[in-house]
Amino acid sequence: MTKAIEKESAAQKKNNTSPTVEPCSLVIFGGSGDLTRRKLLPAVYNLVIDGLLPENYSVVGIGRKSWTDDEFRRVAREGIEKFSRQSLQEDKWEEFARRLHYVSGAIDDPDMYHGLRTRIEEIEAHFDLPGHRIFYLAIPPTSFAPSCQGLQRAGLIYPPELPERVSRVIVEKPIGHDLESAKSINATIGEVFDESQIYRIDHYLGKETVQNIMVLRFANSIFEPIWNHKYIDHVQITVSEAEGLGTRATYYEEAGALRDMVQNHILQLLCLIAMEPPYSLDPDVVRNARMEVLRCLHPIKGKDVEKFTVRAQYSHGKAHDQEVPGYRREEGVKADSTTETFVALKLFIENWRWSGVPFYLRTGKAMPGRASEIAVQFKDIPEILFNTNPEARQAPNVLTLRIQPEEGMSLRIMSKIPGSRARSHPVEMDFKYGDAFDAPSPEAYERLLLDVMAGDASLFMRRDAVEASWAWITDILQGWKDHGGKWLPEYPAGTWGPVEADKLIETDGRQWRLV
Ligand code: BG6
Repeated sequence: MTKAIEKESAAQKKNNTSPTVEPCSLVIFGGSGDLTRRKLLPAVYNLVIDGLLPENYSVVGIGRKSWTDDEFRRVAREGIEKFSRQSLQEDKWEEFARRLHYVSGAIDDPDMYHGLRTRIEEIEAHFDLPGHRIFYLAIPPTSFAPSCQGLQRAGLIYPPELPERVSRVIVEKPIGHDLESAKSINATIGEVFDESQIYRIDHYLGKETVQNIMVLRFANSIFEPIWNHKYIDHVQITVSEAEGLGTRATYYEEAGALRDMVQNHILQLLCLIAMEPPYSLDPDVVRNARMEVLRCLHPIKGKDVEKFTVRAQYSHGKAHDQEVPGYRREEGVKADSTTETFVALKLFIENWRWSGVPFYLRTGKAMPGRASEIAVQFKDIPEILFNTNPEARQAPNVLTLRIQPEEGMSLRIMSKIPGSRARSHPVEMDFKYGDAFDAPSPEAYERLLLDVMAGDASLFMRRDAVEASWAWITDILQGWKDHGGKWLPEYPAGTWGPVEADKLIETDGRQWRLV
């Protein structure tokens, strides 16, 4: 960090009124699972290294595997060595490992919770912890009910009126597979925890560059006046993944790209790009502003799915010099599977600001590269001065926010080509996070865990938002069932999706950006 940035951030820290993190225990259901090893434990470790956690804390993993504390610590160490942003430091590790514990047991076994309570109380007494508990449900939704009820019956949860003993729960996706199931999951958790204690994770909201969308829009004066239908022609959101299915067939076969990526991550990006300025940074004010966007989404129902959506599946192809089998040939996938691995949508937000502005979204697996970006394309200039030749249109201005990789943003502007003739050419003004700030960005889970510990729910999904996005998605799913189920275009792995996706945007005289 440069001296100027350090000074600035110290001054901002002084003004920061966000609550501090108090000593607490993080209790992880799914403690022997992949998410814990790859993301959660490395995230806690990084928070410790960065001095963001209080000195006093504990982590308790719960899992079916009959591990001892030491086995859990060994797995944690491997996870940190492999996946942590910062490398393992022996002196820090010793102290960190001392705070890791493991309880083995089955989530649906009521007796497990009494043992768990005894263990947590012992740990709290040993470290002199005040009894604040954060429960992380890194488990399938079918286990949410038994885990929440087990915790409640064993007296492990305190009501929200008891601020001296905080209990919070973190829930991982998928929160449902349609509106009904999402409501039922929310109701199940809601029977045990108050909404103010529930933190539904969408890890995209924890990404540094996603948080920067609000800063870009509302900490600069130049964008907001032109951020509307008068100046913006359209917006494109692309989240492409180079990887194919990997080892997640059981989950993905039932999910598909619309549920897996659009219902949560992409709609949240859309909310941040499209929302009205919140009047404060209070978590519920910000969440209300995001929620309003979901409320204004024009429904895509019935036969409209044919006009506004494209679903597709990857077939055999070559990506990065490697043969990729077609989706239906992937391990664990049905030979006649109709699960979509790609989806493209065109949608409208029915409010004053966005009236008539199309938003084009696309996401897929087995595409040519990993890239997430939002491109805001401004309207063409009038057809006078430099834009008189219909054969050589001036390229419109485009503001691109790159979420990953190479986090940053760029603005395409027209510039004069040096020389005696008045010829112009598009150039990019480029800002790269990596160049401007030399410290690597924290992982999404670091920020999100810290926020839960601090009781800041801004970056989490409220119940109404989850249900509003599911309501919109469920209409599309129903439309596909009724009108689009029989036919599923294919795209060879390693390409940008099917021709139908190109047509979706080209019919409007526009084109997908080359990402
Ligand atoms: C997850 C999806 O939520 O997000 C995965 O289930 C997807 O299918 C992943 O690969 C993408 O996250 P990221 O952070 O790698 O862009």
